[in-house]
Amino acid sequence: MIKPLSIKITSDHLLLCVFLCLLWGTAGSSTASSTSAMLTATGTADSSTASSTSVMLTAPEKNVTAIAEDIVIDVVSGLISGTKYNFTLYTVFGGVRSSGVKLTAVTAPERVNMVRVTQNDSSITLRWDKVNSISTYVLLYDGNDGPVRENISALPDNTSVTHVVSPLTAGKKYFFILTTVFGEVNSTKYTFEAVTVPPKVSSVDVTERSVTSLTLNWENADINWTYLLQINGSTVTFTRDIYPKVSYSVSPLKPGTQYNFSVITVFSGFNSTAYEACTVTTIDCTSVPWHVTNSSIHGMVEGLFSNATATYKQTHISPQGSNVSFTGLIPGATYGLFLEYEACSQRFQQCHHTETVRPPSLSAHCDYLGAGYSISVVWNKPEGVWTQVEVNVSGQYHPVPENGEQSIQISGFQPARTYEVTVDSLSGHVRSSAPYVFLCDTDPRGVIAGSVFAVLLFALVCLAVFLVLKRPDLIRKKSFIGGAKLSNPKSKAISVAEFPNHFNQLSADDNRGFSQEYENLVPVGTEQTRKAAVLPENKAKNRFNNVLPYDWCRVRLNTSNPNGTSDYINASYMPGYNSNREYIATQGPLPSTVNDFWRMIWEQRVKGIVMVTNCIEGGRTKCERYWPGDSKPCHYGELLITIRSEQQETNWTLREFSLKHTETSEERKVKHFHFTAWPDHGVPQGTKVLIHFRELVRWHIEREAGGAPTVVHCSAGVGRTGTIIALDVLLQQLVKKRGVGINAFVHKMRLSRPYMVQTESQYVFLHQCIMDSLQPDEKMEENIYENADMIYVNATALQELRTNA
Ligand SMILES: *[C@@H]1O[C@H](CO)[C@@H](O)[C@H](O)[C@H]1NC(C)=O
Ligand SMILES: *[C@@H]1O[C@H](CO)[C@@H](O)[C@H](O)[C@H]1NC(C)=O
Ligand SMILES: *[C@@H]1O[C@H](CO)[C@@H](O)[C@H](O)[C@H]1NC(C)=O
Ligand SMILES: *[C@@H]1O[C@H](CO)[C@@H](O)[C@H](O)[C@H]1NC(C)=O
Ligand SMILES: *[C@@H]1O[C@H](CO)[C@@H](O)[C@H](O)[C@H]1NC(C)=O
Ligand SMILES: *[C@@H]1O[C@H](CO)[C@@H](O)[C@H](O)[C@H]1NC(C)=O
Ligand SMILES: *[C@@H]1O[C@H](CO)[C@@H](O)[C@H](O)[C@H]1NC(C)=O
Ligand SMILES: *[C@@H]1O[C@H](CO)[C@@H](O)[C@H](O)[C@H]1NC(C)=O
Ligand SMILES: *[C@@H]1O[C@H](CO)[C@@H](O)[C@H](O)[C@H]1NC(C)=O
Ligand SMILES: *[C@@H]1O[C@H](CO)[C@@H](O)[C@H](O)[C@H]1NC(C)=O
Ligand SMILES: *[C@@H]1O[C@H](CO)[C@@H](O)[C@H](O)[C@H]1NC(C)=O
Ligand SMILES: *[C@@H]1O[C@H](CO)[C@@H](O)[C@H](O)[C@H]1NC(C)=O
Repeated sequence: MIKPLSIKITSDHLLLCVFLCLLWGTAGSSTASSTSAMLTATGTADSSTASSTSVMLTAPEKNVTAIAEDIVIDVVSGLISGTKYNFTLYTVFGGVRSSGVKLTAVTAPERVNMVRVTQNDSSITLRWDKVNSISTYVLLYDGNDGPVRENISALPDNTSVTHVVSPLTAGKKYFFILTTVFGEVNSTKYTFEAVTVPPKVSSVDVTERSVTSLTLNWENADINWTYLLQINGSTVTFTRDIYPKVSYSVSPLKPGTQYNFSVITVFSGFNSTAYEACTVTTIDCTSVPWHVTNSSIHGMVEGLFSNATATYKQTHISPQGSNVSFTGLIPGATYGLFLEYEACSQRFQQCHHTETVRPPSLSAHCDYLGAGYSISVVWNKPEGVWTQVEVNVSGQYHPVPENGEQSIQISGFQPARTYEVTVDSLSGHVRSSAPYVFLCDTDPRGVIAGSVFAVLLFALVCLAVFLVLKRPDLIRKKSFIGGAKLSNPKSKAISVAEFPNHFNQLSADDNRGFSQEYENLVPVGTEQTRKAAVLPENKAKNRFNNVLPYDWCRVRLNTSNPNGTSDYINASYMPGYNSNREYIATQGPLPSTVNDFWRMIWEQRVKGIVMVTNCIEGGRTKCERYWPGDSKPCHYGELLITIRSEQQETNWTLREFSLKHTETSEERKVKHFHFTAWPDHGVPQGTKVLIHFRELVRWHIEREAGGAPTVVHCSAGVGRTGTIIALDVLLQQLVKKRGVGINAFVHKMRLSRPYMVQTESQYVFLHQCIMDSLQPDEKMEENIYENADMIYVNATALQELRTNA
C-alpha cells in the first residue's frame, strides 16, 4: 500500500510526499524492485460547491522514479485554488500497474481580494466578493469583550458576502483579520482596519450667558476625537487633546439675541450627527430707562423675551411686545421684574431687575402742643407701602422710619406762628410724586393770654380816656358794656383774643346770643330778584322750589341761542377770602341737570368739586350720582368722564375725574372731594374732621384751582355748602387777620344765595370750629368726639339737629 505522508498545499500546487517503504511493503509481492510509481490524477477537481467542474489536468499521468525512501511527487502548477482533487497512485513494476491508491487533496483558497466598509456609530458593515464561490470565512477582531472569532457562512446564491460587525463602540478603530476557509484549509490572511462613527455629543451646557458672551461646555470622552462648533455663522475647530472637557466662550455677541449652535464630533474623518441647540444672550435690564409712577412701571426693552412679569405679592404680566408695561401696582412696593424667553423648548431667564414704584402721596395735618412750642404732624395711611416719612418744617428734615406710627412731635417753635410743613413718603430712595405741603399754626394761647391782657388793658385805658374826654355822660350811666353790641350783624372781625369771650357770651342763656344773631340774618338778601329761576321752563331744574339763585350772581351756562333758556342752572357765584367768585354754590344735580352740571364745570374751568352730602341719606335721594359707577368712561352731554382714581378714607372719598370734550378732544382733570360724614341739616361729629377735610380742599385750591371757582354742593346747595365755604373763608381770615367775622361773612353769603348756612346749629357749629381752632385742647376734643351733643347742651339748635339728622 502506498500512503501519502503529507500533502503540502498551495493554491495551485500540491506536493505529495509518499513514504517509500510503505510503497515497498505494499509492493512487496512484486519481484523486482521498482523505483517508479505512477500517479494518476483522475483529472477531476471536486470542489465542495455545487457548481463543481471537472478539470482535466494538462498532464494527468506522471511516472516518478523512487530515488530515496520517500518520493515527493510534484503535481505541477496549473491546479485551481480552492479545489478538491482525486488522485490515484499506482505502483508500476515491469510495466504492470498495481491497483491504485486513491488520494484526495484540496488546493488552498485565495484570500479575500477587497473588503468594502460602511459604518455607523454602533456597527461596521463589511462586504466582499466571494472567493471561488467559497462560502466560509473566518473573521477575527478584538471586540468589546476581548478577541472575537466569527465563522461566516455566506448565502449560497449570492456572489458577495455582507457581514455586520456589532455591537461596537462608537468612535473607535478596529483591526480585522479575514480568512477564506475551504475544506479546513485556510487562505492567507487579509488584514484591514476600520473605524466606527463617533457618537453625538450627549449634551452641551451653556454654563454662562451674559449680555455679550456665551460659554459652552461639553464632555469629551476620547482623546482622539476632535470637534466642530458652529455658532454665530462661523465654525470653530477643536483639535485633538482637548480632554476630558471642552469649554468655549464666544464673544462679542449682541444682547438679547438668539444663537443657534451645533457641535459635531469628528473621528478619523467621520462626523457624528450634529448636536443642535439654541441659546440666547441676556438683556441688560438695568440700562433700560424705566418710567415709574405711583402705580405703574413702563419701559422699552430691546432684545428677545417672550414673557415679562412684575412680582410683589402678586404677579403682573406685561402685554406682549417690547413695550413692557405694568399697571395697577401697589404704590411704594418694590417689584421684581423678570423677563423670560422661550425658544427651542427651553425657558431662558433674560433678566431679573427690581424697580420701586413711587410711594403714595400722603396728606397730613398738624396739631399743636407744648403751649405752642411744639407741633404734632399727623399723616394719613393711604394704600401702599413706604419705608420712611419725611417731615420738613421750615427747612428742617425729620425722617420717620415706617413703623406704623402716623405722627411725629417736633419742638422748637414759637407760639402763634404759621409754619410751612412738607410731608413726603419714601420707599427706599424713591419719593412720592408730590410732597404734601400745608400751613401749620402753633398754639396761640400763650400769646392770647398775654395779648388779651394787653388788649384789655389798652382798651380800658382808651375807653377811660375817651369817656373822660368825650362822653362823660356814659360814665355816669355805668352801662357801657352791652351784649347787644356784640350781636350786631354788621360787626366786623372779632380778634382772636376776644373770640372766646364772644363765644361764651353768645352761648349764654341757652345760646340766646346765637339765636338772635341768626334770626337777624333771615331777611338778608331776600328782596333780590330770581326771575330766571322761576321761568316755567326752568322750574323743573330746581331741586327745591324755595332755594333759587339770585339773578345777579347766578352762574350762566353758555348757550349758542341767546334767547334760549338753556343758560339756567341752580348755581350761584360765592365770594371767598380772596375774590368774589371763589366758589360756586350749587344744588346736588338732578337726573335732568347732570349734563348741565358738567357743562358748568367745563365752562367755568373748574378744577375741584366739593361734595358735602351722600347721594342717598335716610332712604332719600339727596343728589344724583353724577359720575361713572366704575372705571368705564361715561358720556354726559358733550363730555366724556372717566374716574382716574378713587381713594376712600373714613370720612371722605377723594376722586380724580378726567373730562374729555368729545368735540375738541381737550382733556382736563377735576378733583372730587366727597365728604361722607355729614348729616343733612345737622353738623358733623366734632369739628376736627371737617377742619381737616377743609385743609385738603384749601391745599388744592391754592395749588391747582388756578383762580377758577371751586364748585361746592350738597343737596340744596345752601346749608352744608354754606357752612364749608364759610369755614374755609373764616379760617383764612383767622390766620391772616388774627380775627374772624362770622356773622359778617354769613351776611355776605346770604346776599349771594339764600339760606346760606341753613340752620342755627350749623351757625353755632361754625363758631365751635373757630373756637376749636383756637384751643385744640386735647381733652376738649376728646369730649367732642365722645359726646358731640355735649357742646350743644341747652342749644336750641340741638332739637333741629336731632330731628333732621
Ligand atoms: C473523487 O473521489 C470520491 C470518492 O473518494 C468520489 O465520490 C468522487 O466522485 C470523485 N470525484 C471525481 C470527479 O471523480
Ligand atoms: C510511463 O511508463 C510506462 C511504462 O514504462 C510507459 O508506457 C508510459 O508511456 C510512461 N508514461 C509517461 C508519461 O512517460
Ligand atoms: C448601524 O448600521 C446597522 C447596519 O446597517 C444597522 O442595523 C443599525 O441599525 C445602525 N445603527 C444606527 C444607530 O443607525
Ligand atoms: C467556528 O469553526 C470552528 C472550526 O472550524 C469551530 O471550532 C468553532 O466552534 C466555530 N465557532 C463558531 C462560533 O461556530
Ligand atoms: C447579495 O446580498 C446583498 C446583501 O446582502 C443583496 O443586496 C444582493 O441583492 C444579493 N445578491 C443576490 C444575487 O442575491
Ligand atoms: C485556519 O485558521 C484558523 C483561525 O485562523 C486556525 O484556528 C486554524 O488552525 C487554521 N487551520 C489551518 C489548517 O491552518
Ligand atoms: C488614540 O489613538 C491612539 C493611536 O492613534 C491609540 O493608541 C490610543 O489608545 C487612542 N486613545 C484612545 C483613548 O482611544
Ligand atoms: C458674530 O457675528 C457678528 C456679525 O456677523 C460679528 O460682528 C461678531 O464679531 C461675531 N462674533 C463672534 C464672537 O464671532
Ligand atoms: C435658529 O433655529 C430656529 C429653529 O430652531 C430657526 O427658526 C431660526 O431661524 C434659527 N436662527 C438663526 C439665526 O439661524
Ligand atoms: C463634517 O462636517 C463638516 C462641517 O459640517 C463638513 O465641512 C465636513 O465635510 C464633514 N465631513 C464629513 C466627512 O462629512
Ligand atoms: C408668563 O409667566 C407667567 C408666570 O411665570 C405665567 O403665568 C404666564 O402664563 C406666562 N405667559 C406667557 C405668555 O408665557
Ligand atoms: C399717584 O400719582 C398721581 C399723579 O402722578 C396722583 O394724582 C395720585 O394721587 C397719586 N396716587 C397716590 C395714591 O399717591
